[in-house]
Amino acid sequence: MGSNHEVHIEVNGELRTCTTEARTSLADFLRDQLGLTGTHLGCEHGVCGACTVLLNGTPIRSCIMLAAQADGQSVTTIEGLSGPDGELNGVQEAFCKTHALQCGFCTPGMVLAVQALVDNVPEPTQQDIDDAIGGNICRCTGYVQIREAIELVLGDVAKVRTSDDATVGAR
Ligand code: FES
Ligand code: FES
Repeated sequence: MGSNHEVHIEVNGELRTCTTEARTSLADFLRDQLGLTGTHLGCEHGVCGACTVLLNGTPIRSCIMLAAQADGQSVTTIEGLSGPDGELNGVQEAFCKTHALQCGFCTPGMVLAVQALVDNVPEPTQQDIDDAIGGNICRCTGYVQIREAIELVLGDVAKVRTSDDATVGAR
């Protein structure tokens, strides 16, 4: 019989306090206890990246982490990226514009992996881009449109940064 743990996890900006079995993976906790089914499960042994979520802003595979291990930490799922009325954020918008998904199974994990790149790497190289999505398997797109989406969002981010610099320079 498994033991239960009370966990306190900030999920998409909201503190959630729940009791979970010691053996429950973070992915199952998010999907089954919190109803956040945007986190997909593919291989369930840490290979495909479908279950990617952000833990304190860093992409991790939620199928091989226990919910109890996330106690006291911050988790972002795909549901946490869109605005209050469901409006898409910049990365999601770029995926739509470039048709960077077909079946969509890999998409939540892929979008979160790209979001972490955008948030954490100011001027990513091709190698940084390869590293960011290299652990996320997509069987449909051949990655061409996913790369287009990344280029698009990075271009938009660069424009915002340039206009911020210009604003600061004008002050
Ligand atoms: S479902 Fe977690 S890595 Fe495949
Ligand atoms: S869009 Fe189908 S696996 Fe990526």
